[in-house]
Amino acid sequence: MDRLLVTGGARLSGAVRISGAKNSALKLMAASLLAPGRTVLENVPRIQDCRTMGEVLEHLGAEVSWAGGSVTIDAERIGPPEAPYELVRRMRASILVLGPLLARVGRARVAMPGGCNIGSRSIDLHVRGLERMGARFAFEHGFLEAEARELRGALITLDFPSVGATENILMAAVAARGTTVIENAAREPEIVDLASFLVEMGARIGGAGTTTIVVDGVDSFRPVRHRVIPDRIEAGTFAIAACATRGSVVLEGARPDHLELVLSKLAEAGADVLVTEAGISVGIEGRPRAVDFVTLPYPGFPTDLQPQMMALLATAEGTSIATENVFESRFMFVDELRRMGADVRTEGHHAVIRGVERLQAAPVRALDIRAGAAMTIAALAAEGVTEVADMYHVDRGYEDFELKLAALGAEVRRERLPSPVPS
Ligand code: UD1
Repeated sequence: MDRLLVTGGARLSGAVRISGAKNSALKLMAASLLAPGRTVLENVPRIQDCRTMGEVLEHLGAEVSWAGGSVTIDAERIGPPEAPYELVRRMRASILVLGPLLARVGRARVAMPGGCNIGSRSIDLHVRGLERMGARFAFEHGFLEAEARELRGALITLDFPSVGATENILMAAVAARGTTVIENAAREPEIVDLASFLVEMGARIGGAGTTTIVVDGVDSFRPVRHRVIPDRIEAGTFAIAACATRGSVVLEGARPDHLELVLSKLAEAGADVLVTEAGISVGIEGRPRAVDFVTLPYPGFPTDLQPQMMALLATAEGTSIATENVFESRFMFVDELRRMGADVRTEGHHAVIRGVERLQAAPVRALDIRAGAAMTIAALAAEGVTEVADMYHVDRGYEDFELKLAALGAEVRRERLPSPVPS
Protein backbone atom coordinates (compact mmCIF):
# COMPACT_ATOMS: atom_id res chain seq x y z
CA MET A 1 0.00 0.00 0.00
CA ASP A 2 3.04 2.29 -0.42
CA ARG A 3 2.68 5.86 -1.55
CA LEU A 4 5.05 8.15 -3.35
CA LEU A 5 5.68 11.68 -2.17
CA VAL A 6 6.68 13.82 -5.15
CA THR A 7 7.92 17.39 -4.81
CA GLY A 8 7.23 19.00 -8.16
CA GLY A 9 9.39 21.46 -10.02
CA ALA A 10 12.72 19.67 -10.56
CA ARG A 11 13.74 19.30 -14.20
CA LEU A 12 14.75 15.77 -15.08
CA SER A 13 18.20 15.49 -16.59
CA GLY A 14 20.75 12.75 -17.21
CA ALA A 15 20.63 9.20 -18.52
CA VAL A 16 18.33 6.34 -17.62
CA ARG A 17 18.89 2.68 -18.52
CA ILE A 18 15.75 1.15 -20.01
CA SER A 19 14.82 -2.27 -18.59
CA GLY A 20 13.63 -5.34 -20.46
CA ALA A 21 10.06 -5.20 -21.74
CA LYS A 22 7.47 -6.45 -19.26
CA ASN A 23 5.02 -7.32 -22.02
CA SER A 24 7.63 -9.41 -23.79
CA ALA A 25 9.21 -11.09 -20.76
CA LEU A 26 5.83 -12.36 -19.50
CA LYS A 27 5.07 -14.13 -22.79
CA LEU A 28 8.57 -15.58 -23.15
CA MET A 29 8.28 -16.97 -19.63
CA ALA A 30 4.97 -18.61 -20.58
CA ALA A 31 6.38 -19.92 -23.87
CA SER A 32 9.28 -21.59 -22.05
CA LEU A 33 6.72 -24.22 -20.94
CA LEU A 34 6.95 -25.63 -24.47
CA ALA A 35 10.51 -26.90 -24.10
CA PRO A 36 11.51 -29.59 -21.62
CA GLY A 37 14.78 -28.46 -19.99
CA ARG A 38 16.31 -25.18 -18.86
CA THR A 39 15.42 -21.96 -20.67
CA VAL A 40 17.37 -18.84 -19.71
CA LEU A 41 15.85 -15.41 -20.25
CA GLU A 42 18.10 -12.39 -19.88
CA ASN A 43 17.09 -8.77 -19.29
CA VAL A 44 13.87 -9.72 -17.48
CA PRO A 45 12.68 -6.73 -15.43
CA ARG A 46 12.52 -7.33 -11.68
CA ILE A 47 8.91 -6.30 -11.28
CA GLN A 48 5.90 -7.81 -9.56
CA ASP A 49 4.21 -9.06 -12.75
CA CYS A 50 7.26 -11.12 -13.73
CA ARG A 51 7.46 -12.53 -10.20
CA THR A 52 3.78 -13.46 -10.48
CA MET A 53 4.38 -15.23 -13.81
CA GLY A 54 7.26 -17.06 -12.10
CA GLU A 55 4.79 -18.23 -9.43
CA VAL A 56 2.34 -19.36 -12.12
CA LEU A 57 5.09 -21.45 -13.76
CA GLU A 58 6.13 -22.91 -10.40
CA HIS A 59 2.53 -23.80 -9.71
CA LEU A 60 2.55 -25.66 -13.03
CA GLY A 61 5.54 -27.68 -11.90
CA ALA A 62 8.44 -25.75 -13.47
CA GLU A 63 11.49 -24.72 -11.44
CA VAL A 64 12.14 -20.99 -11.62
CA SER A 65 15.27 -19.26 -10.36
CA TRP A 66 16.33 -15.63 -10.58
CA ALA A 67 19.88 -14.28 -10.75
CA GLY A 68 20.18 -10.54 -11.35
CA GLY A 69 18.20 -9.80 -14.47
CA SER A 70 18.13 -13.42 -15.66
CA VAL A 71 15.50 -16.03 -15.05
CA THR A 72 16.09 -19.74 -15.52
CA ILE A 73 12.98 -21.82 -16.09
CA ASP A 74 13.35 -25.56 -15.93
CA ALA A 75 10.22 -27.00 -17.52
CA GLU A 76 11.51 -30.58 -17.73
CA ARG A 77 8.48 -31.78 -15.79
CA ILE A 78 5.03 -30.22 -15.81
CA GLY A 79 2.51 -31.05 -13.11
CA PRO A 80 -1.27 -30.65 -13.27
CA PRO A 81 -1.82 -27.84 -15.84
CA GLU A 82 -3.79 -25.45 -13.65
CA ALA A 83 -3.36 -21.67 -13.10
CA PRO A 84 -5.25 -20.83 -9.88
CA TYR A 85 -7.48 -17.81 -9.32
CA GLU A 86 -5.20 -16.48 -6.59
CA LEU A 87 -2.48 -15.85 -9.25
CA VAL A 88 -4.59 -15.06 -12.34
CA ARG A 89 -6.52 -12.48 -10.29
CA ARG A 90 -3.25 -10.63 -9.66
CA MET A 91 -2.26 -10.61 -13.31
CA ARG A 92 -4.43 -11.15 -16.34
CA ALA A 93 -1.44 -12.12 -18.48
CA SER A 94 -1.45 -15.46 -16.59
CA ILE A 95 -3.94 -16.65 -19.22
CA LEU A 96 -1.03 -16.76 -21.66
CA VAL A 97 -0.11 -20.20 -20.30
CA LEU A 98 -3.21 -21.51 -22.08
CA GLY A 99 -1.63 -21.84 -25.55
CA PRO A 100 1.67 -23.39 -24.39
CA LEU A 101 -0.11 -25.85 -22.05
CA LEU A 102 -2.46 -27.01 -24.80
CA ALA A 103 0.57 -27.48 -27.04
CA ARG A 104 2.63 -29.32 -24.42
CA VAL A 105 0.10 -31.48 -22.53
CA GLY A 106 -3.15 -31.10 -24.47
CA ARG A 107 -5.14 -29.57 -21.63
CA ALA A 108 -5.27 -26.57 -19.33
CA ARG A 109 -7.38 -25.25 -16.49
CA VAL A 110 -7.03 -21.50 -16.06
CA ALA A 111 -9.01 -19.26 -13.70
CA MET A 112 -10.87 -16.45 -15.44
CA PRO A 113 -8.75 -13.32 -15.20
CA GLY A 114 -9.08 -10.15 -13.16
CA GLY A 115 -6.10 -7.83 -13.65
CA CYS A 116 -6.10 -4.17 -14.62
CA ASN A 117 -9.40 -2.42 -14.32
CA ILE A 118 -9.35 -0.84 -17.78
CA GLY A 119 -12.34 -2.17 -19.62
CA SER A 120 -14.03 -5.48 -20.23
CA ARG A 121 -11.03 -7.19 -21.84
CA SER A 122 -12.72 -10.47 -22.51
CA ILE A 123 -10.81 -13.44 -23.88
CA ASP A 124 -13.24 -14.46 -26.59
CA LEU A 125 -10.65 -14.01 -29.34
CA HIS A 126 -8.18 -16.30 -27.54
CA VAL A 127 -10.88 -18.96 -27.11
CA ARG A 128 -12.27 -18.73 -30.64
CA GLY A 129 -8.81 -18.96 -32.19
CA LEU A 130 -7.82 -22.00 -30.15
CA GLU A 131 -11.19 -23.62 -30.91
CA ARG A 132 -10.43 -23.26 -34.63
CA MET A 133 -7.36 -25.40 -33.97
CA GLY A 134 -9.47 -28.13 -32.37
CA ALA A 135 -9.38 -27.15 -28.68
CA ARG A 136 -12.59 -27.62 -26.70
CA PHE A 137 -13.54 -25.24 -23.90
CA ALA A 138 -15.83 -25.34 -20.90
CA PHE A 139 -16.42 -22.76 -18.17
CA GLU A 140 -16.72 -24.44 -14.79
CA HIS A 141 -16.80 -22.73 -11.39
CA GLY A 142 -14.85 -19.68 -12.55
CA PHE A 143 -12.33 -21.77 -14.47
CA LEU A 144 -11.77 -22.05 -18.18
CA GLU A 145 -11.11 -25.71 -18.98
CA ALA A 146 -9.47 -26.46 -22.29
CA GLU A 147 -8.68 -29.73 -23.96
CA ALA A 148 -7.18 -30.66 -27.30
CA ARG A 149 -6.31 -34.23 -28.09
CA GLU A 150 -4.60 -32.90 -31.19
CA LEU A 151 -4.13 -29.30 -32.32
CA ARG A 152 -4.61 -28.81 -36.05
CA GLY A 153 -3.44 -25.92 -38.18
CA ALA A 154 -6.24 -23.52 -39.16
CA LEU A 155 -6.98 -20.19 -40.78
CA ILE A 156 -7.79 -17.75 -37.98
CA THR A 157 -8.93 -14.22 -38.72
CA LEU A 158 -9.03 -12.05 -35.60
CA ASP A 159 -11.86 -9.50 -35.25
CA PHE A 160 -9.32 -7.13 -33.70
CA PRO A 161 -5.51 -7.40 -33.65
CA SER A 162 -5.45 -8.44 -29.99
CA VAL A 163 -1.93 -8.79 -28.63
CA GLY A 164 -2.78 -11.54 -26.14
CA ALA A 165 -4.94 -13.53 -28.57
CA THR A 166 -2.22 -13.41 -31.25
CA GLU A 167 0.29 -14.66 -28.67
CA ASN A 168 -1.84 -17.46 -27.23
CA ILE A 169 -2.73 -18.71 -30.72
CA LEU A 170 0.89 -18.46 -31.86
CA MET A 171 2.15 -20.47 -28.86
CA ALA A 172 -0.36 -23.24 -29.62
CA ALA A 173 0.08 -23.14 -33.41
CA VAL A 174 3.81 -23.85 -33.23
CA ALA A 175 2.96 -27.39 -32.07
CA ALA A 176 -0.17 -27.96 -34.18
CA ARG A 177 -0.30 -30.46 -37.03
CA GLY A 178 -0.10 -28.53 -40.30
CA THR A 179 -0.13 -24.86 -41.10
CA THR A 180 -1.86 -22.09 -39.15
CA VAL A 181 -2.44 -18.66 -40.66
CA ILE A 182 -3.30 -15.79 -38.28
CA GLU A 183 -4.90 -12.92 -40.19
CA ASN A 184 -5.32 -9.44 -38.68
CA ALA A 185 -2.58 -10.42 -36.23
CA ALA A 186 -1.14 -7.90 -33.77
CA ARG A 187 2.15 -6.40 -34.97
CA GLU A 188 3.65 -5.24 -31.67
CA PRO A 189 7.44 -5.60 -31.21
CA GLU A 190 6.64 -7.99 -28.33
CA ILE A 191 5.02 -10.36 -30.87
CA VAL A 192 8.19 -10.24 -32.96
CA ASP A 193 10.28 -10.99 -29.85
CA LEU A 194 8.06 -13.95 -28.98
CA ALA A 195 8.25 -15.29 -32.54
CA SER A 196 12.07 -14.98 -32.59
CA PHE A 197 12.26 -16.84 -29.29
CA LEU A 198 9.97 -19.60 -30.58
CA VAL A 199 12.01 -19.90 -33.78
CA GLU A 200 15.21 -20.27 -31.72
CA MET A 201 13.40 -23.08 -29.85
CA GLY A 202 12.68 -24.86 -33.15
CA ALA A 203 9.37 -23.37 -34.30
CA ARG A 204 8.70 -22.43 -37.93
CA ILE A 205 7.09 -18.98 -38.16
CA GLY A 206 6.90 -16.40 -40.94
CA GLY A 207 5.42 -12.92 -41.04
CA ALA A 208 5.67 -11.94 -37.34
CA GLY A 209 5.47 -8.15 -37.22
CA THR A 210 3.01 -8.10 -40.14
CA THR A 211 -0.76 -8.63 -40.16
CA THR A 212 -0.41 -12.22 -41.45
CA ILE A 213 1.55 -14.76 -39.43
CA VAL A 214 2.10 -18.21 -40.92
CA VAL A 215 3.11 -21.08 -38.64
CA ASP A 216 4.13 -24.61 -39.65
CA GLY A 217 3.73 -26.89 -36.65
CA VAL A 218 6.71 -28.91 -35.39
CA ASP A 219 7.00 -31.85 -32.98
CA SER A 220 9.52 -30.70 -30.42
CA PHE A 221 11.20 -27.67 -28.91
CA ARG A 222 14.60 -27.16 -27.32
CA PRO A 223 15.31 -24.82 -24.42
CA VAL A 224 17.38 -21.76 -25.37
CA ARG A 225 18.94 -18.59 -23.96
CA HIS A 226 17.30 -15.35 -25.12
CA ARG A 227 17.58 -11.64 -24.31
CA VAL A 228 14.31 -9.71 -23.85
CA ILE A 229 13.87 -6.55 -25.98
CA PRO A 230 13.92 -3.13 -24.22
CA ASP A 231 10.67 -1.81 -22.80
CA ARG A 232 9.29 0.78 -25.23
CA ILE A 233 6.58 1.80 -22.77
CA GLU A 234 9.08 2.46 -19.98
CA ALA A 235 11.22 4.43 -22.47
CA GLY A 236 8.18 6.44 -23.59
CA THR A 237 7.23 7.11 -19.96
CA PHE A 238 10.65 8.62 -19.17
CA ALA A 239 10.65 10.61 -22.44
CA ILE A 240 7.27 12.10 -21.54
CA ALA A 241 8.36 12.74 -17.94
CA ALA A 242 11.39 14.65 -19.22
CA CYS A 243 9.18 16.87 -21.37
CA ALA A 244 6.65 17.39 -18.55
CA THR A 245 9.43 18.77 -16.33
CA ARG A 246 10.94 20.82 -19.18
CA GLY A 247 14.05 18.66 -18.81
CA SER A 248 16.16 16.40 -21.00
CA VAL A 249 17.02 12.71 -20.66
CA VAL A 250 18.94 10.05 -22.57
CA LEU A 251 17.10 6.73 -22.81
CA GLU A 252 19.92 4.20 -22.78
CA GLY A 253 19.27 0.99 -24.66
CA ALA A 254 15.85 2.06 -26.00
CA ARG A 255 14.96 1.13 -29.59
CA PRO A 256 14.00 4.19 -31.70
CA ASP A 257 12.33 1.92 -34.28
CA HIS A 258 9.85 0.79 -31.58
CA LEU A 259 9.01 4.37 -30.61
CA GLU A 260 8.59 6.14 -33.93
CA LEU A 261 5.14 7.62 -33.45
CA VAL A 262 5.71 8.46 -29.78
CA LEU A 263 8.90 10.34 -30.58
CA SER A 264 7.31 12.14 -33.51
CA LYS A 265 4.38 13.23 -31.31
CA LEU A 266 6.82 14.56 -28.72
CA ALA A 267 8.68 16.40 -31.48
CA GLU A 268 5.35 17.86 -32.64
CA ALA A 269 4.88 19.10 -29.06
CA GLY A 270 8.20 20.91 -29.33
CA ALA A 271 10.70 18.35 -28.02
CA ASP A 272 14.17 17.86 -29.47
CA VAL A 273 14.66 14.21 -30.22
CA LEU A 274 18.08 12.90 -31.14
CA VAL A 275 19.17 9.33 -31.69
CA THR A 276 22.82 8.84 -30.70
CA GLU A 277 25.13 5.93 -29.90
CA ALA A 278 24.31 6.40 -26.21
CA GLY A 279 20.57 6.11 -26.76
CA ILE A 280 17.64 8.36 -27.56
CA SER A 281 17.94 11.89 -26.22
CA VAL A 282 14.64 13.70 -25.57
CA GLY A 283 14.40 17.20 -24.16
CA ILE A 284 12.31 20.33 -24.43
CA GLU A 285 12.86 24.04 -23.90
CA GLY A 286 9.89 25.81 -22.37
CA ARG A 287 6.26 24.83 -22.46
CA PRO A 288 5.12 22.01 -24.78
CA ARG A 289 2.58 22.74 -27.52
CA ALA A 290 -0.79 20.99 -27.68
CA VAL A 291 -0.96 17.92 -29.94
CA ASP A 292 -3.78 15.57 -30.87
CA PHE A 293 -3.20 11.85 -30.70
CA VAL A 294 -5.13 8.64 -31.28
CA THR A 295 -4.32 5.29 -29.67
CA LEU A 296 -4.25 2.31 -32.02
CA PRO A 297 -2.65 -1.12 -32.20
CA TYR A 298 1.05 -0.95 -33.14
CA PRO A 299 2.46 0.91 -35.04
CA GLY A 300 -0.17 3.38 -33.78
CA PHE A 301 0.26 5.42 -30.61
CA PRO A 302 0.32 2.93 -27.70
CA THR A 303 -2.64 2.93 -25.35
CA ASP A 304 -0.11 2.17 -22.59
CA LEU A 305 1.30 5.71 -23.00
CA GLN A 306 -2.04 7.50 -23.30
CA PRO A 307 -2.36 8.49 -19.60
CA GLN A 308 1.25 9.72 -19.43
CA MET A 309 0.78 11.77 -22.62
CA MET A 310 -2.40 13.31 -21.19
CA ALA A 311 -0.48 14.28 -18.04
CA LEU A 312 2.07 16.06 -20.25
CA LEU A 313 -0.55 17.82 -22.36
CA ALA A 314 -2.33 19.02 -19.20
CA THR A 315 0.26 21.82 -19.04
CA ALA A 316 0.74 22.34 -22.80
CA GLU A 317 0.04 25.58 -24.60
CA GLY A 318 -3.35 25.16 -26.31
CA THR A 319 -6.00 22.47 -26.52
CA SER A 320 -5.29 18.82 -27.38
CA ILE A 321 -7.66 16.02 -28.27
CA ALA A 322 -6.85 12.45 -27.24
CA THR A 323 -8.80 9.54 -28.71
CA GLU A 324 -8.65 6.13 -27.03
CA ASN A 325 -9.45 3.27 -29.40
CA VAL A 326 -8.08 0.22 -27.59
CA PHE A 327 -9.57 0.10 -24.07
CA GLU A 328 -12.99 1.56 -23.46
CA SER A 329 -12.55 2.82 -19.91
CA ARG A 330 -9.02 4.03 -20.00
CA PHE A 331 -9.98 7.60 -19.09
CA MET A 332 -10.87 6.73 -15.51
CA PHE A 333 -7.68 8.31 -14.19
CA VAL A 334 -8.78 11.67 -15.60
CA ASP A 335 -10.67 12.39 -12.37
CA GLU A 336 -7.37 12.07 -10.51
CA LEU A 337 -5.68 14.42 -12.98
CA ARG A 338 -8.47 16.94 -12.50
CA ARG A 339 -7.83 16.89 -8.75
CA MET A 340 -4.48 18.46 -9.61
CA GLY A 341 -6.09 21.28 -11.57
CA ALA A 342 -6.00 19.75 -15.06
CA ASP A 343 -8.72 20.97 -17.40
CA VAL A 344 -9.82 17.74 -19.11
CA ARG A 345 -13.26 16.85 -20.40
CA THR A 346 -14.08 13.39 -21.71
CA GLU A 347 -16.85 12.41 -24.08
CA GLY A 348 -16.97 8.71 -24.98
CA HIS A 349 -13.55 7.76 -26.21
CA HIS A 350 -12.39 11.34 -26.75
CA ALA A 351 -10.76 13.66 -24.24
CA VAL A 352 -10.31 17.40 -24.66
CA ILE A 353 -7.33 18.70 -22.72
CA ARG A 354 -7.02 22.47 -22.28
CA GLY A 355 -3.49 23.11 -21.15
CA VAL A 356 -3.11 25.04 -17.90
CA GLU A 357 0.00 26.96 -16.85
CA ARG A 358 0.67 24.81 -13.79
CA LEU A 359 -0.78 21.79 -12.00
CA GLN A 360 -1.15 21.81 -8.23
CA ALA A 361 -0.15 19.09 -5.78
CA ALA A 362 -3.03 17.01 -4.38
CA PRO A 363 -3.48 13.59 -2.83
CA VAL A 364 -4.14 11.22 -5.75
CA ARG A 365 -4.22 7.50 -6.47
CA ALA A 366 -2.59 5.22 -9.00
CA LEU A 367 -5.55 3.40 -10.59
CA ASP A 368 -3.46 1.03 -12.69
CA ILE A 369 0.14 0.64 -13.84
CA ARG A 370 0.16 3.34 -16.50
CA ALA A 371 -2.27 5.67 -14.74
CA GLY A 372 0.09 5.55 -11.75
CA ALA A 373 3.00 6.55 -13.97
CA ALA A 374 0.86 9.38 -15.37
CA MET A 375 0.01 10.70 -11.90
CA THR A 376 3.70 10.65 -11.01
CA ILE A 377 4.48 12.64 -14.17
CA ALA A 378 1.75 15.17 -13.31
CA ALA A 379 3.18 15.40 -9.79
CA LEU A 380 6.70 16.05 -11.11
CA ALA A 381 5.32 19.01 -13.08
CA ALA A 382 3.10 20.33 -10.30
CA GLU A 383 3.60 22.94 -7.62
CA GLY A 384 3.97 21.45 -4.16
CA VAL A 385 4.13 17.93 -2.73
CA THR A 386 1.81 15.37 -4.29
CA GLU A 387 1.04 12.05 -2.61
CA VAL A 388 0.48 9.26 -5.12
CA ALA A 389 -1.23 6.41 -3.26
CA ASP A 390 -1.48 2.72 -4.29
CA MET A 391 1.99 2.56 -5.82
CA TYR A 392 1.71 -1.23 -5.90
CA HIS A 393 0.11 -0.82 -9.33
CA VAL A 394 3.22 0.94 -10.63
CA ASP A 395 5.46 -1.71 -9.04
CA ARG A 396 3.71 -4.33 -11.18
CA GLY A 397 5.18 -2.82 -14.33
CA TYR A 398 8.12 -0.48 -13.71
CA GLU A 399 11.51 -1.62 -12.43
CA ASP A 400 13.02 0.73 -9.81
CA PHE A 401 10.65 3.51 -10.91
CA GLU A 402 11.37 6.08 -8.25
CA LEU A 403 15.07 5.17 -8.02
CA LYS A 404 15.42 5.92 -11.74
CA LEU A 405 13.48 9.16 -11.35
CA ALA A 406 15.60 10.19 -8.36
CA ALA A 407 18.79 9.50 -10.35
CA LEU A 408 17.46 11.97 -12.96
CA GLY A 409 17.03 14.63 -10.27
CA ALA A 410 13.40 14.14 -9.26
CA GLU A 411 12.46 14.74 -5.63
CA VAL A 412 10.63 11.55 -4.82
CA ARG A 413 10.33 9.58 -1.60
CA ARG A 414 8.45 6.36 -1.02
CA GLU A 415 6.46 6.04 2.15
CA ARG A 416 6.09 2.41 3.10
CA LEU A 417 2.73 1.71 4.62
CA PRO A 418 1.93 -1.61 6.24
CA SER A 419 -0.63 -3.72 4.36
CA PRO A 420 -3.99 -3.75 6.09
CA VAL A 421 -4.35 -6.78 8.37
CA PRO A 422 -7.15 -8.99 7.03
CA SER A 423 -9.94 -9.24 9.59
C1 UD1 B 1 -1.58 -6.16 -24.03
C2 UD1 B 1 -0.68 -5.51 -23.03
C3 UD1 B 1 -1.28 -4.22 -22.51
C4 UD1 B 1 -1.64 -3.31 -23.68
C5 UD1 B 1 -2.49 -4.05 -24.70
C6 UD1 B 1 -2.76 -3.23 -25.95
C7 UD1 B 1 0.42 -7.39 -22.00
C8 UD1 B 1 0.63 -8.23 -20.80
N1 UD1 B 1 -0.47 -6.42 -21.92
O1 UD1 B 1 -2.78 -6.50 -23.35
O2 UD1 B 1 -0.33 -3.59 -21.65
O3 UD1 B 1 -2.35 -2.20 -23.19
O4 UD1 B 1 -1.83 -5.26 -25.11
O5 UD1 B 1 -1.56 -2.82 -26.52
O6 UD1 B 1 1.07 -7.56 -23.01
N2 UD1 B 1 -10.15 -8.02 -26.64
C9 UD1 B 1 -11.31 -8.69 -26.85
N3 UD1 B 1 -11.30 -10.05 -26.83
C10 UD1 B 1 -10.16 -10.76 -26.62
C11 UD1 B 1 -8.96 -10.07 -26.41
C12 UD1 B 1 -8.99 -8.68 -26.43
O7 UD1 B 1 -12.37 -8.10 -27.04
O8 UD1 B 1 -10.20 -12.00 -26.62
C13 UD1 B 1 -10.15 -6.54 -26.67
C14 UD1 B 1 -9.83 -5.96 -25.31
O9 UD1 B 1 -10.99 -5.83 -24.51
C15 UD1 B 1 -9.26 -4.62 -25.69
C16 UD1 B 1 -8.57 -4.88 -27.04
O10 UD1 B 1 -9.13 -6.08 -27.52
O11 UD1 B 1 -10.28 -3.68 -25.88
C17 UD1 B 1 -7.07 -5.00 -26.96
O12 UD1 B 1 -6.70 -6.03 -26.12
P1 UD1 B 1 -5.37 -6.87 -26.32
O13 UD1 B 1 -4.61 -6.37 -27.50
O14 UD1 B 1 -5.72 -8.31 -26.28
O15 UD1 B 1 -4.55 -6.50 -25.02
P2 UD1 B 1 -3.83 -7.47 -24.02
O16 UD1 B 1 -3.09 -8.54 -24.77
O17 UD1 B 1 -4.76 -7.89 -22.95
